[in-house]
Amino acid sequence: MPDLFSPYTLKGVTLRNRIVMSPMTMYNSVDGKLDDYHVSYLGARAAGGFALVFGEQMAITPDGRTTTSCAGIWSDEQVEGHARVVAMIRRMGAVAAIQLGHTGRKGSELPPHRGVNADRTKKQLPPDHPDGWTCVAPSAIPYGGGGHTYPVHALTVDEIRSLHRSYADAAVRARDAGYQWLELHFAHGYLGASFFSPLANQRTDQYGGSVANRARFLLEALDAVRAVWPEHCPLTMRLGCDDLHPQGTQFEDSLLAIRMMKEHGLDLADLSLGFNTDQMVNPPMNQPGFMVERAHRVRRELGIPVAASWNLGVPREADRVIREELIDLVMLGRPALANPHWPIWAARELNHPSPFSLVQDDWRWWLENFRGHAPSIGWPPVAPVAPGAPEVAVTTPPAS
Ligand SMILES: Cc1cc2nc3c(=O)[nH]c(=O)nc-3n(C[C@H](O)[C@H](O)[C@H](O)COP(=O)(O)O)c2cc1C
Repeated sequence: MPDLFSPYTLKGVTLRNRIVMSPMTMYNSVDGKLDDYHVSYLGARAAGGFALVFGEQMAITPDGRTTTSCAGIWSDEQVEGHARVVAMIRRMGAVAAIQLGHTGRKGSELPPHRGVNADRTKKQLPPDHPDGWTCVAPSAIPYGGGGHTYPVHALTVDEIRSLHRSYADAAVRARDAGYQWLELHFAHGYLGASFFSPLANQRTDQYGGSVANRARFLLEALDAVRAVWPEHCPLTMRLGCDDLHPQGTQFEDSLLAIRMMKEHGLDLADLSLGFNTDQMVNPPMNQPGFMVERAHRVRRELGIPVAASWNLGVPREADRVIREELIDLVMLGRPALANPHWPIWAARELNHPSPFSLVQDDWRWWLENFRGHAPSIGWPPVAPVAPGAPEVAVTTPPAS
């Protein structure tokens, strides 16, 4: 039976455990480049025991960013920064993963820590602002929620083809930078998710209408990347599989789309929400592990490996979903931000025989052989869990 610390092999890549640092946009780039900030921040998570480390959604074109402070891989000049990050993640024993995406109608924003709307939603900048631009979308329908009301441009078929070439070019750069795992971002209201959602996509051509037509943009992006991405390296995608809205993406449609993607060479499905509207019915944001049930259905019904995030940061819960073979990989977002050593901490909480086996051999040797006064080196005794203690603290969700 696998557990949270069991190795995992997909294609030609083996992860040292099942714990993944989920992609998180950091708003810390100049000209879309990665620099010392990313080497340090992502290297720390690799050093902390995460097996697979994602940076953030990397834009395939400049207008595919969330803000002008976000990172990308649309130019050859950006490859060097990525290669430095990849080298550090590898040196710390983890596998480096990249998420490629385009923000579509959720771009042209201000970083949330620099100002949000009165209702605490992200602030969109007008197209004529120095840090703004006209967003693109399947149809000329702005996102609407959270002040995203500026007109958007409906992509022509030629522009769609050009974007698919940008996906492929970005994948070639990712390969050259040394990444071994590539995920396409088709969730969270960004371009892929909006093509799949009837709330955003009201096209009447081959890209709109039926499930197959709404999945076409996603499948063509997958095909374009599959053609250039090394066969032995996993190619995965994160799907916004449910808009939690009667007129939005329905989970049953997502099952059909993932089946098609599997036939087109998808290696693993990472399940998340659609976020194509703020008007969600009963959003489950405070529920522990709320994506696991849907992810498990994909695994069981389609026979494809799956990953899920959302409120899986309680070690017992993360371990359980792997032991019960509900999902294959646990993705951690906010827990990875909060604690770069989450895997080591979890190992200790779960009475792993050797939590320090998760870090580099040199540190491990000292920490296992030279403990001294354990509490003084930041290794206090494990606090017993009180009977009936709540499993998960209630948090407010990000919608990135
Ligand atoms: C600051 C921040 C930035 C995020 N950026 C991205 C992103 O670039 N791509 C993505 O797919 N998800 C993004 N997410 C979502 C996370 O990857 C993750 O799915 C979500 O936070 C739920 O996992 P958690 O409950 O462990 O935090 C972001 C989340 C946070 C907190």
